[in-house]
Amino acid sequence: MKKIGIIGVGEYLPKKILTNADLEKMVDTSDEWITTRTGIKERHIVSEGEAASDLAFNASNLALADAGIKAEDLDLIVVATITGDMPFPSVASILQNKLGAMHAACFDISAACAGFVYALSVANQFLACGTYKNALVIGVEVLTSVTDWLDRGTCVLFGDGCGAVVLSEVKSGGIISSYLGCDGSRANILNMPAGGSRCPATHETVDKRMHYIKMQGNELFKIAVNTMTKAALVVLEQAKMTFADVDLIIPHQANARIIMAVAKKLGIPEDKVYLNIERCGNMSSASTATALCEAVKEGRVKKGDIILLDAFGAGLVWGASVIQW
Ligand code: ACO
Repeated sequence: MKKIGIIGVGEYLPKKILTNADLEKMVDTSDEWITTRTGIKERHIVSEGEAASDLAFNASNLALADAGIKAEDLDLIVVATITGDMPFPSVASILQNKLGAMHAACFDISAACAGFVYALSVANQFLACGTYKNALVIGVEVLTSVTDWLDRGTCVLFGDGCGAVVLSEVKSGGIISSYLGCDGSRANILNMPAGGSRCPATHETVDKRMHYIKMQGNELFKIAVNTMTKAALVVLEQAKMTFADVDLIIPHQANARIIMAVAKKLGIPEDKVYLNIERCGNMSSASTATALCEAVKEGRVKKGDIILLDAFGAGLVWGASVIQW
């Protein structure tokens, strides 16, 4: 099997920013509640007409330039998203045309907040066994398109954004191990009930506000802490490493309190945890992807460093990955 690593990164966040002060004017909430309960201060949100493939196009161009390869050199595009431009075709297909990546096989992956780690692992398999050479892997979400702006329990949490990486063969390091999992028995505690084949869109589903994210946050909180802790332990064991080997953990950014509880359970000091939740909120699959891109661009990840991706979300799904930079 070939060694596969990330050779380029790119992030795009929409220009518009929604602050906690803005939300105070929309629902019965406060900056104090949002900050202390979640760690979020502001989030980027799309402008009218801006969709997932637009964000992905901008992030992809940056990642391709960073990697020093052209779009036509790509033979695989995998996009992790639960908020594509439309139910079908895939964002990956739309993006392929925008980029002019005409030689690339394209598909989307639906694994919610763990989507980017899932996508990275799937693309890695294709490249490691030699089926493809260069892959573009993306985490992109426009969560504000499925946010109920009347529900204070969820609308303060979400934001929009995109992170893209280029994967290719590397001489040393790269993706060392991946661990993916799912517990479908708890799928009901985080979902969007309508708009699929179970409950197609009707006037009634719209009137009942069924096209928005429904979340039992309190229940999820405990599961998120335990699951992310376990996923980190398993993936490091697979890599034959311990937490002492990890230089930076890049977790899914659902809640700063969840992240710090996981770090505490694992005995990882706070300065080894990367956070962008304060500026970006929860962007589902885009959270881990953008956090990785930012950490690299800020110089928090250096050649040879061991980084640990750790994500959890609707499904319930989880994914963790150990990468040597
Ligand atoms: N402003 C003010 N008060 C609020 C707000 C708000 N925005 N939202 C809820 N409250 C109130 C509630 O009504 C409740 O009031 P009550 O005690 O009078 O009934 C009180 O605050 C406490 O509510 P909880 O829901 O218990 O608050 P909690 O501390 O659990 O925080 C949160 C809620 C932030 C959602 C947290 O539970 C969380 O982060 N959960 C995990 C989310 C997660 O990991 N999701 C999976 C990934 S996301 C994905 O896949 C898209």
